[in-house]
Amino acid sequence: MSSLVIRNAEQIVTLEGSGPLRGESLRSVTPDARVSVGIQDESIESVGLASGGDSELDASGCTVVPGFVDCHTHLPFFGWRADEDAARLSGIRYETLHREEGGIFRSARLLAEASDDAALDFSLGLSTAMLRSGTTSFETKSGYGLTVAAELRQLRLARRLADAVPQTVVSTCLAAHAVPKDRSPGQWAGEAANELLPVVASEGLARSVDIYVESIAFALEHAARLHEAAKPLGLGMRMHADQLEDGQAASFAARWGFVSADHLNHTSLPAVGDVAASDTAAVLLPGATFTLRQNKKPLARNLIEEGAIVALGSDLNPGTSPISSMPFVMALACRLYGLRPLEALAAATVNAAHVCGLGDTLGRLAPGYRADAVVLDVPSFEHLCYRPDHDAVLAVICGGEVVHLTPGAEDRLRS
Ligand code: NIG
Ligand code: FE
Repeated sequence: MSSLVIRNAEQIVTLEGSGPLRGESLRSVTPDARVSVGIQDESIESVGLASGGDSELDASGCTVVPGFVDCHTHLPFFGWRADEDAARLSGIRYETLHREEGGIFRSARLLAEASDDAALDFSLGLSTAMLRSGTTSFETKSGYGLTVAAELRQLRLARRLADAVPQTVVSTCLAAHAVPKDRSPGQWAGEAANELLPVVASEGLARSVDIYVESIAFALEHAARLHEAAKPLGLGMRMHADQLEDGQAASFAARWGFVSADHLNHTSLPAVGDVAASDTAAVLLPGATFTLRQNKKPLARNLIEEGAIVALGSDLNPGTSPISSMPFVMALACRLYGLRPLEALAAATVNAAHVCGLGDTLGRLAPGYRADAVVLDVPSFEHLCYRPDHDAVLAVICGGEVVHLTPGAEDRLRS
């Protein structure tokens, strides 16, 4: 048994309530001042007044927020593709690199050639960077396998990664990421549905199934095929939707009860209405928009004002979003998509936890929730979006343990 109290914060954003924050519940959130957070073992015991703990953090002058939840990453992967980024910066399209077997195919080759330990080390380094920027839970995906055996290997690597990091990790099977060269999209979707998903479910290797719906990848009929297979196995469905063109994908995801539709750059106004009226979360990934220099942005204000569940993710991957910091993603969401700072914070915490299926235990500073919190060396959380290149993180608490302190933070917080 151990207890920890965080006291005296200049500002604390608990994001109280229940369920994801959307519509009116999002508009009524207000930050608090100087309330204490009492932590017992892995969980938050009290928010308000807290008696003395075994240890204390004095957060005077600081802001305390829930640990960030990154609900869309492509970890584990191995190696970067900076040359492709340079090619794109001189005018070559992402789709062209993909058709020439760069892109996802290249990352699949790099992962196939790496040993398990090398791939794990590489991904662990990124998970540590994420922790230092305040990410206390994240999603992993397969999708750099592209055969049944290689997809299973990547999902098992994700499980090893989950076991090795302090963060909470949830896993997604994205077998339908690129069409293998020796298969048609229908053949591969059928193989994934018939051969891969039953093993994934029986070994508990993933909580959800994702699909990349785009003219260079899969179509809505393949999403329907995977949905049909996933449902009886108890696996939720997610979708990379309308990133590069309007494929009516987000609307399909909403109508079929998918957990999330992600990207949404080209999603039309009527489809925004479908998403807002549903329980399908709109996962916005401004890191990919920024990296690909996409002019077409999601209709984020419409999504928020019409009451959609809006979440943010880094989309951390070596192609379209080599970005791991959620504060940076929040700043991009404000600058590029017009989110307000509080909307960005809710999207990066409680709403992202909902997408991961963990909304009852992660993403809020409330009694009974897992004690994941970030102490920021700024007087208000708005600084996260206002000063994107300032590393404000002083301390990261994950499952009730102080897992990261920046140099000098010890003296400041334990005085
Ligand atoms: O979410 N476009 C599909 N998937 C990723 C990119 C993966 C890659 O390029 O390796 C994305 O943007
Ligand atoms: Fe992605």
